[in-house]
Amino acid sequence: MNPQSPASLPADAPWIVMKFGGTSVATLSRWQNILELVASRRAEGARVLVVVSALTGVTDALKQLCAQGEPGKRSEAAKAIAQRHYDLLDHMQLAMPDTLGERLADLAKLAHEGAAALGELAWQAQVQAHGELMSSALGAAFLSHSGLPTQWLDARDCLAAIALPNQNERTRLLSSMVDTKADPALNARLAALGEVFITQGFIAREAKGRTVLLGRGGSDTSAAYFGALLKAQRVEIWTDVAGMFTANPRQVPGARLLQRLDYEEAQEIASTGAKVLHPRCLSPLREPRVPLLIKDTNRPELDGTVIGPEVRAHAPSVKAISARKGITLVSMESVGMWQQVGFLADVFAHFKQHGLSVDLIGSAETNVTVSLDPTENLLDSDAIAALATDLAKVCRVKVIAPCAAITLVGRGMRSLLHTLSGVLAEFGQLRVHMISQSSNNLNLTFVVDEEVVDTLLPHLHELLIAAGALRTDDSALFGPSWQALYGSGESPAPAAAWWHESQRPRLLEIAAQATPRYVYHLPTVRHQARELKRLAAVDRLHYAVKANTHPAILKALAEEGFGFECVSPGEVKAVMAAVPSSAPLLFTPNFAPREDYAWALSTRSTVSLDSLYPLEHWGELFRGREIVLRVDLGRGLGHHEKVRTGGSGSKFGLPVEQIDAFLRLADTHGVIVRGLHAHLGSGILDDAHWGEVYAQLASLAERIGSVSFLDIGGGLGVPSHPGEAPLDIAELDRVLREVKAAYPQYQLWMEPGRYLVADAGVLLARVTQQKGKGTLRYLGLDTGMNSLIRPALYDAWHEIVNLSRLDEPATALYQVVGPICESGDVLGTDRRLPEAREGDVMLIAQAGAYGKVMSSHYNLRDEADEVVIE
Ligand code: LLP
Repeated sequence: MNPQSPASLPADAPWIVMKFGGTSVATLSRWQNILELVASRRAEGARVLVVVSALTGVTDALKQLCAQGEPGKRSEAAKAIAQRHYDLLDHMQLAMPDTLGERLADLAKLAHEGAAALGELAWQAQVQAHGELMSSALGAAFLSHSGLPTQWLDARDCLAAIALPNQNERTRLLSSMVDTKADPALNARLAALGEVFITQGFIAREAKGRTVLLGRGGSDTSAAYFGALLKAQRVEIWTDVAGMFTANPRQVPGARLLQRLDYEEAQEIASTGAKVLHPRCLSPLREPRVPLLIKDTNRPELDGTVIGPEVRAHAPSVKAISARKGITLVSMESVGMWQQVGFLADVFAHFKQHGLSVDLIGSAETNVTVSLDPTENLLDSDAIAALATDLAKVCRVKVIAPCAAITLVGRGMRSLLHTLSGVLAEFGQLRVHMISQSSNNLNLTFVVDEEVVDTLLPHLHELLIAAGALRTDDSALFGPSWQALYGSGESPAPAAAWWHESQRPRLLEIAAQATPRYVYHLPTVRHQARELKRLAAVDRLHYAVKANTHPAILKALAEEGFGFECVSPGEVKAVMAAVPSSAPLLFTPNFAPREDYAWALSTRSTVSLDSLYPLEHWGELFRGREIVLRVDLGRGLGHHEKVRTGGSGSKFGLPVEQIDAFLRLADTHGVIVRGLHAHLGSGILDDAHWGEVYAQLASLAERIGSVSFLDIGGGLGVPSHPGEAPLDIAELDRVLREVKAAYPQYQLWMEPGRYLVADAGVLLARVTQQKGKGTLRYLGLDTGMNSLIRPALYDAWHEIVNLSRLDEPATALYQVVGPICESGDVLGTDRRLPEAREGDVMLIAQAGAYGKVMSSHYNLRDEADEVVIE
């Protein structure tokens, strides 16, 4: 590589500020990395200012030095610190540069002399500043020696600390702030000096000329200050991770990279738990609108997180869920002082007096509860006890700890509430001590017991995605998961088997003949069938034909050895017509008329009953027959309330408490209960579910001597939102085998529908018109809820693709709608797609299950026809 820049830059060339932290500057190879990155920015035609931290561990070592009383010990500490820098120089094969030599001499002198001359705090600041002064001096030498002429800049000559009225001497010297009005003079001064600069994070100078520190997160803040002063094109924070994520990846490996945030959101995420960026470093950049980029030093090719001014062209979305542990709640009950004037003032005066800063506040007429965040407070039990003693003089005090604050962050949280019902339901089983909504409408916080957080967080993250509140499908905002970027290399399976990408020319041809059309891909059906055949515990698999009754699909599944589960004579006839073999048939209707049973009994179908009525009223019909009893296990599950088929709110299944009555009736009519059946709902993605049903059915069966098989239903879900984990078939089998080992006497049957066909089908439609309305853009297709009712009925999410423009960037945000005269005729909301044109072919994915079978002639629009591809 030749990092030497080809041409010199004009005076008004833009600035890029790049900040590297302690680990990024601690070794030769890391510096080689920095060299390359800086050279690449220079090659973009920008002036570069590099801001560095001290070598890792050096700031701590300097603090320890400061804490030493004896001059001898301090000098020894200074020597050890100097040695770190000699070692690195050695490694770089560099001679000692003057700038570094001077710093080392200064440090030795400061260590020897101690605080006396400067005063304790000023001395500490001066000593600690040396970490950055030394690392930057070393870096300047390395970069220049490597062919990238680099000017060493003393940050204290550029960053002027301001004195604030509420600061004491300690904060003024050790946690200072800087005035960041754009400084054209600085810009010009530096531009005259060179093109690449290196300076220190963490330090500045105050009006009296003393060195001051910028406190925690200081180097990021320095980079932001410089970005603002120079009105840089951007500030880049180089760190060990690609950016901010939708949750802490240590708790939620499926957390997604946040590719785009506005300043306020990023600040909120940083303040509520994310460690990657100090919240303080964003405010200097807001007014000059300088974007900040977080990048991974080890993986510079990753996009990272861009934080900038608000962009409106996004769907409202929760951006992150964060958790802070170690929260203490203080609940204060006013004693008989209902709405007394000054109560809050009295109470808060005590917090101020104890130096405790309050985070969340909840208040009622006679109670106020506040939270104390350990990152903002020095919380120990003594501090809390002292506070409680004082508070007890004005109110009744209760301290609740340890708690955790779980925060949902996103712009416009209040407008997202309706999407959160499933997420909020999760809190139903927990002790929620407090709920707080920030007045800036950016966060919603729940304070719960600390112990529940680690298990709760991944679950809430998943629910937020499933509810469409965390819009991870918006690829402009949400990047890959942490797991995919840094995990074992196994990226989560895509939301669906996107066979349509390889079949695109074929699909375009099919659409050119006519739209709307359903297209089914038989290899995908077979693939899914073979997946299920890996379930060694299952003795018999049936396809629930209600999902898709296309004869080619029925045939393909018969060839794979599946039986068929039907709910009407029509379905039985469809199977018989397509599959004239002797494949097993189940007849599992609900509230069917008498004649349906009579007819089914005349076929080879195994008939199931799920209420007392048929035996009470039509007992003769079933005399001497073997039947299946469908029971309701008291709960329902599934992707939407309307597809849950258990519990008293659902019309399916015989309640367990009526089983005895059913058995008596069966006895009376000589009916034999050969099988027990339960199907609790559809679209279930929890591997454990079927094992539970199996075990429950088995234990019920033990009370009924005649049972020989258990049918644990269908309901196997397929992930629809990107990032949702698919069912783990091997794990499901393991669970089922475990139950089977306990109940080997029963055969195990299943009857999945969706799993076999959902991904195998797509709906093709054409763009008809577009319309802008307010901030929304509508994209009209030639079919809608008449062909695919799932979005309207269940808010189901189907991936939508512009097949005609697969390679174009997705720059538009569309509401994808059909031509039906209903406001609910929407196929997808807030979809990021390429700019579309009339006639473009749109593909609606995962339409193989419950698509065509649920379509209608509504508005007398033609139904989509069906095409099968091998
Ligand atoms: N067995 C019985 C008794 C069923 O009622 C069903 C589906 C199944 C099996 C197959 O369930 P699957 O494996 O496909 O989830 N229209 C809704 C789904 C309704 C499911 C009705 N019963 C949807 O589009 O999501």
